Formats: sequence, structure tokens, C-alpha cells
Amino acid sequence: FSLKNHNTFGIDAQARQFVAVHSVEELQNVLQNHQNTTKFILGGGSNMLLTQDIDALVIHIDIKGKSVIKEDENYVWVQAMAGENWHEFVLWTIDQDFGGLENMSLIPGNVGTTPVQNIGAYGAEIKDTFLECSAVSMDGLTTRDFDKEACHFGYRESIFKQEAKGQYIITSVVFKLTKHNHTINSNYGDIKAELAKHGIENPTIKDISNAVIAIRQSKLPDPKELGNSGSFFKNPVISKTQFEQVQAKFPDIKFFEVSPTEVKVPAGWLIEHAGLKGYRDGDAGVHKNQALVIVNYGNATGTELVNLSKLVQKTVFDKYGIAIEAEVNII
Ligand code: EPU
Repeated sequence: FSLKNHNTFGIDAQARQFVAVHSVEELQNVLQNHQNTTKFILGGGSNMLLTQDIDALVIHIDIKGKSVIKEDENYVWVQAMAGENWHEFVLWTIDQDFGGLENMSLIPGNVGTTPVQNIGAYGAEIKDTFLECSAVSMDGLTTRDFDKEACHFGYRESIFKQEAKGQYIITSVVFKLTKHNHTINSNYGDIKAELAKHGIENPTIKDISNAVIAIRQSKLPDPKELGNSGSFFKNPVISKTQFEQVQAKFPDIKFFEVSPTEVKVPAGWLIEHAGLKGYRDGDAGVHKNQALVIVNYGNATGTELVNLSKLVQKTVFDKYGIAIEAEVNII
């Protein structure tokens, strides 16, 4: 079974066996009936790079559904099942006038994987509105709920990438969203500029969503047109001492203070100023508008893309002494 249409890099890797599940019960049955089989869980396929065939039973989580499970005067508790497309879900919340997810419009992938790396963009992260998620254990025998605290969220981090890695399959997520007293978050420079372009002074959640969509479309390639996985690398967090040494050599470097002793540096800036923005080797390339994104121009293999990512890491390290780490799961 080819996974080409199940990963946003468009890699033509083969799965030994493939099954799509459409309910939590179906998922539990499949897991229980294949206790001794190696399994590989697949959501939207938007954060992985396949470098080989998958010699396992691939279980595609295609559980759909979204509903309001509780509300009060000011808030609404919305549950979305893991297989819902993230962006369609965000647009639906905006149509209902539920606020909180608008800054994260157009992020590829499905709802179920959003907590795994605490997805975020343009001044918001999933943890800001996340209430809890439900998961099934890998043997299919038990279910478990994780509240926000249990998830240990950090920058592109959670328990699902650490202690609980490979142990649970998230089946649904509950978000607590605002009803009408929306907290508009338009502080991100790009959003401010986009709103100003349209003369919008008091943006609605829909205006924010439209601005984010416009910004993303101008910088980030659409996986349907050009295989990619969003940011390939995480933005490195380095000590202030190290940052000051780098800044002395590269005074234009962009940065963001994350604590009194630590600074986050945009990897996109480092890659661009190391001369690699738009670099291409065969069908593997560094995107021309956002150097943090690695793209597949057509028939690059997973290995060719990984080799390009290693070249990027080495070039950046040699130039600045800063190590950048992949955000994407390399399989
Ligand atoms: N920059 C460059 N050259 C580039 C790219 C960026 O100089 O080629 C500079 C920009 O000018 C800006 C700074 O780097 O000063 C930050 O750029 P941008 O706002 O585009 O954000 P980013 O740090 O490159 C992060 C997320 C994105 C998210 C944006 C917007 C990570 C790893 N990436 O990128 O997330 O959309 O912020 O909030 O944190 C993703 O995870 O897949 C993703 C796209």
C-alpha cells in the first residue's frame, strides 16, 4: 500500500499493511486483534519524513466529529475528534463565532496530532486553549484522559514526545473557546502589518484568521502543490552569553528573549544568511520564501531530503556555532 497520499512530503513509501479506523471502538478492536504486530500510527502525515518503507501495520486515524459539549455565558467547550482536518475545524469554530484558534489557521495536519508538538503560530499555541484530550493505550485495552497539566506542554513539546512517546493514540481533544468576549491577539508583527494593509483597526477573529491565511500563503508552500512539512527545524534556544557572541559578529540577527538567560533565534534567519534560502539539489530544496521549510520539488526521496537537512544543519553550525534540530519526525 503506497503512503504517497498520506504524507505531505509526498514520499512514495510502502506500508506492509494499512487500515483506516473511523471510531474509537474500531481503533481499540484493531489494536487488541494485533497485539504482536508492529504498528505505526498515522494521522494527517504532516509532520513526518519517510525515508524507508514501513514494515508494520499502518493504522490511519480517521475518526471524525466535532461538537459543543458544554457552555456557559462566556465560554464554550468544543470537542473535536482526532481525524478532523485542523484547518477545517478552525474555520468551523470561527463560523460559530468561537474565539481562540484563529491565529493557528491553515496549519496542516489533523486535530489528534496538535497536542503532540503543541502546535503554534503567530502568537498562539494549542496549550492556550487546550483543556484535555482522550487517548487509547497501544494495546487497545485502556483509555486515558490527559488534562493540560498532564501534557507537560513546551515549545513544540509535550509528554507525547517524551515519557509517553509511542504509548498512546490521541482520539479527541477538547478546547475551551471564548463566545463573544474574544481576546484578540494581533501582536505578531506580520499580523499587524497585514491588518494595516487592509485598514483594519479593530479586527474580529475572522479578520485575524484571514490575515494569518494571507501571510501563510505568501510565505509557506501549499503541500498540495509542493511537498513539505512546514518548519523542518525548531528555532534554537541558546544562552544569552552565546547569543551575545554571535550577535557581535552578526549584528542584524533577529532574536526573541524567552527568559532572562535564554534567547530564541529564528532558524529561518540563520539559514537564509548562510546563503541557503532557495538552494536546490535535484528535487530537494530549501524554500525560496521561508528558509525554515524544506521542500520536495517532485521526486526527491526521503533520504535526499534528510541529506539536504544535514547540509543545512552543518552549514549553520559552521557559520554560527548554533545547532539546529529537526522538528519533523524522520522515519
Ligand atoms: N526569517 C528570515 N528568513 C527566512 C525565514 C524567517 O530572515 O527565510 C526571519 C523573519 O524575517 C523573522 C523571523 O525570522 O524576523 C521569524 O520568521 P517567521 O515569523 O516567519 O517565523 P519562524 O520563526 O520562521 C515560526 C514557526 C512557524 C510559524 C511562524 C509564525 C517554528 C519552528 N516555526 O516560524 O511554524 O508559522 O513562526 O508564528 O517555531 C511550523 O511549525 O510548521 C510552522 C510553520
